[in-house]
Amino acid sequence: MHISVIGTGYVGLVTGACFAEFGVNVTCMDNDAKRIARLEKGDVPFYEPGITELVAKGLKENRLSFTTDIAKAVDKALVIFIAVGTPPKEDGSADLSFVEEVGRGIARYMTGYKVIVTKSTVPVGTGEAIRAVIKKTQQEPIRFDIVSNPEFLREGSAIEDFMRPNRVVIGADSDQAVAIMKDLYRPLYLIETPFVVTDVPTAELIKYASNAFLATKISFINEIANLCEKVGANVQMVAKGMGLDHRIGSKFLHAGPGFGGSCFPKDLAALIQTGERNGLPMQIASAASRVNQNQLRQMVKKIREATGDVAGKTLAMLGLSFKPNTNDLREAPALALGQELLAAGAAVRVYDPAALEEACRALPKLQACRDAYHAAEGADALIIVTEWNQFRNLDFERLKSVMRRPLLLDLRNVYDPQRVAAAGFRHVSVGRPPLDPQ
Ligand code: UDX
Repeated sequence: MHISVIGTGYVGLVTGACFAEFGVNVTCMDNDAKRIARLEKGDVPFYEPGITELVAKGLKENRLSFTTDIAKAVDKALVIFIAVGTPPKEDGSADLSFVEEVGRGIARYMTGYKVIVTKSTVPVGTGEAIRAVIKKTQQEPIRFDIVSNPEFLREGSAIEDFMRPNRVVIGADSDQAVAIMKDLYRPLYLIETPFVVTDVPTAELIKYASNAFLATKISFINEIANLCEKVGANVQMVAKGMGLDHRIGSKFLHAGPGFGGSCFPKDLAALIQTGERNGLPMQIASAASRVNQNQLRQMVKKIREATGDVAGKTLAMLGLSFKPNTNDLREAPALALGQELLAAGAAVRVYDPAALEEACRALPKLQACRDAYHAAEGADALIIVTEWNQFRNLDFERLKSVMRRPLLLDLRNVYDPQRVAAAGFRHVSVGRPPLDPQ
């Protein structure tokens, strides 16, 4: 089978490279000629474990090709995945102009039956909007089907998530399209991945409802963490006690500085907007979003209280990307925190294994450091914002010898407070009682 993927962003490229690995012939198309030229050489423009190897393999074995020509992408493909961006507009609703432009491109060049699939998160109703655009643009009525096949992959484990998903959702309104999609995903069928086959709007909503629910879980535990601090409870044990109930589950109950990334904040906003448009306020999604914004303010307050006042202090921040194993800084709590701390008059020394340069471009006042120990030099506090593995086993003796004050603000609860206190540090975390050095 031959397929194409329009858009070589995160979702598009992972989709293309993984289908090529499944043995399918894949053409990836993007308007950005520079990006395509890089990709043709196997140079992947973002950081994601395993993707470079997969792209190189696909290129070498001639199952993966890149083009800027939409006609070429449409011509041979039976299935066309649309994976272009849907950036938020001012009011939180998603901007569909890129998706619609692709729809017009497909309509212009299609000469036979096509299955046209939305892969990136698109608002409920997008499938219908694409259908309308294609019908309007077509010179003659050639049959096609619209499918919604939302992607649930997480950055940092995108390939694994694609290859071993919890489920595959296929929203379609023709048996032929469902059969073609199932054929495409045959390798997952063999590992007994559940397939959820529905109509198009249901599939579109499954994606929003899933992400909003996960975001709500995080905001819920963050709110409980703040209460734990007031009543002297330990949020990690609360989460453990809750999570063992199978109806609740232990995942996404880690308290911290709040969620970031390209999905949760944007998808919550879009769901809230869809609710408003339909006269049905999404009250829980709205609360999850508000609590998340508040969590950042809580972190600033926590840092202020722990350091006395941040003005004139030197603070070392470890981890800048919105989560480990990615260089993605979109909606990263660390950037927002950095901005607040700089504005409050602190000097902020930073280190991140993958996102350092870009973060310092975004906030030029941040002082880029070589590693955690370099960042800690002369610092009044060391703040772990993103839990990269290399920050899980820091040498506290070495840190103490270079810092002005031995204070650890562990915003991801990666350390056992006793261990940190035993190393002579004051330990302040999220939703757990602070501990003085012993
Ligand atoms: C998310 C969804 O998990 C994925 O299914 C969807 O396709 C895209 O959005 P991603 O944004 O890559 O994936 O990251 P994820 O691992 O879900 O983390 C999102 C944010 O929540 C991060 O900022 C992370 O630090 C935070 N988080 C996650 C918590 O604060 N606590 C948790 O318990 C889990």
